[in-house]
Amino acid sequence: LSRASFPKGFVFGTATSAYQVEGMAHKEGRGPSIWDEFIKIPGIVANNGTGEVAVDQYHRYKQDVDLMANLNFDAYRFSISWSRIFPDGTGKVNWKGVAYYNRLINYLIKRGITPYANLYHYDLPLALEKKYLGLLNDEVVKDFADYAEFCFKTFGDRVKNWMTFNEPRVVAALGYDNGFFAPARCSKAYGNCTAGNSSTEPYIAAHHLILSHGAAVQRYREKYQKVQKGRIGILLDFVWYEPLTRSKADNYAAQRARDFHVGWFIHPIVYGEYPRTIQEIVGDRLPKFTKEEVKMVKGSMDFVGINQYTAYYMYDPHQSKPKVSGYQQDWNAGFAYKKNGVPIGPRAYSSWLYQVPWGLYKALTYIKEHYGNPPVILSENGMDNPGNWTRAEVLHDTTRIKFYKSYMIQLKKAVDEGANVLGYFAWSLLDNFEWRLGYTSRFGIVYVDFKTLERYPKMSAYWFKKLLTKTKH
Ligand code: GCO
Repeated sequence: LSRASFPKGFVFGTATSAYQVEGMAHKEGRGPSIWDEFIKIPGIVANNGTGEVAVDQYHRYKQDVDLMANLNFDAYRFSISWSRIFPDGTGKVNWKGVAYYNRLINYLIKRGITPYANLYHYDLPLALEKKYLGLLNDEVVKDFADYAEFCFKTFGDRVKNWMTFNEPRVVAALGYDNGFFAPARCSKAYGNCTAGNSSTEPYIAAHHLILSHGAAVQRYREKYQKVQKGRIGILLDFVWYEPLTRSKADNYAAQRARDFHVGWFIHPIVYGEYPRTIQEIVGDRLPKFTKEEVKMVKGSMDFVGINQYTAYYMYDPHQSKPKVSGYQQDWNAGFAYKKNGVPIGPRAYSSWLYQVPWGLYKALTYIKEHYGNPPVILSENGMDNPGNWTRAEVLHDTTRIKFYKSYMIQLKKAVDEGANVLGYFAWSLLDNFEWRLGYTSRFGIVYVDFKTLERYPKMSAYWFKKLLTKTKH
């Protein structure tokens, strides 16, 4: 593997998100987001971790950008914190926040790193949650589009790669079905939910996410794209679902899982409607797009980002209709991590992350075959180690190197067979705040001492440096 293994102009980068790395959560004028509220629930985050300091990229951005440049990366995917720009979600601008992103963007460009800016990574301004229940209210569509437009206008002379939302499925499912993530709404016994209705709210939140995406893209295309000459897309998480057996029923269960997972978002964006399976199963509980909305949503991406880490087996549970209706129940599909006693792949530290490189190949091929081979950016891929390992153990991350290598071989295979993949982003540049796992999970190719905030490149960082040596193509 080397740069020459991939098409000319193929982009290599690393990815992070605002709340996970910036710190300064309540400083320099930033307003709180729903995550600042969520982490207050006792015991919700491992060891009571918070994003208050995170890894202090707010102050250490130069050092981090220098690291990227020294490791031969071409690009950096970061996110902008909506409530750092608009502390109340709308209205008054926090110019200190604007200045921060200007500093970051300018320094990236100075060091030859292309900025990829994502507008939303789980962090809705808390003010909008309080004002009108955030994503459950269609007012959010205009507010998001206004925020997006402000970013296009302010940063778009330098940022040419925009993303509207990161993992809207996670936002809708974890925020409104099982309550594992902010704003922790759900109607079931697990999670910490106090309110919500899992049979309708995930679909409403998802609908507003899709419309918000469409509205932002519309603004970009009408007013900015021609002049600024950039492109805009969305970031979808895509677990590969492999049928457990060759039976028709298991095949259909896996298909349902793919439709409810990635199809939920990419189908409307490519074809202007929800997948048939979702329409049939969810029925009246599924919000509908008006003709105008279909026009706005259909075709609203120049590229799609795919966050791909893992794969599971799916089987048909042979129950005609689940007892309760809820987003996860609607799939009516069983998850398995083993087949004939053999695990689908070795587990990383996170319980959801099995290492299954061929899943990446299948996911990319699926997008190619079902969605008209759109331009794709592999926008996240990586694995974690437990936070309690010693620094020496973590730095010697041969397993992570093997992980990256094996996934990249599958990526190359998909590309060689015609998948239109334009770039690859490793998750993550740095060990950082891993949501519910706090600082107990390390996804970085650079180790961060969470006490001193000192950075130490791991072996995998040097592996990338070598892979990405800039020689002539
Ligand atoms: C995302 C992810 C990241 C995680 C990473 C490892 O939504 O893009 O949740 O923020 O840190 O996927 O779990």
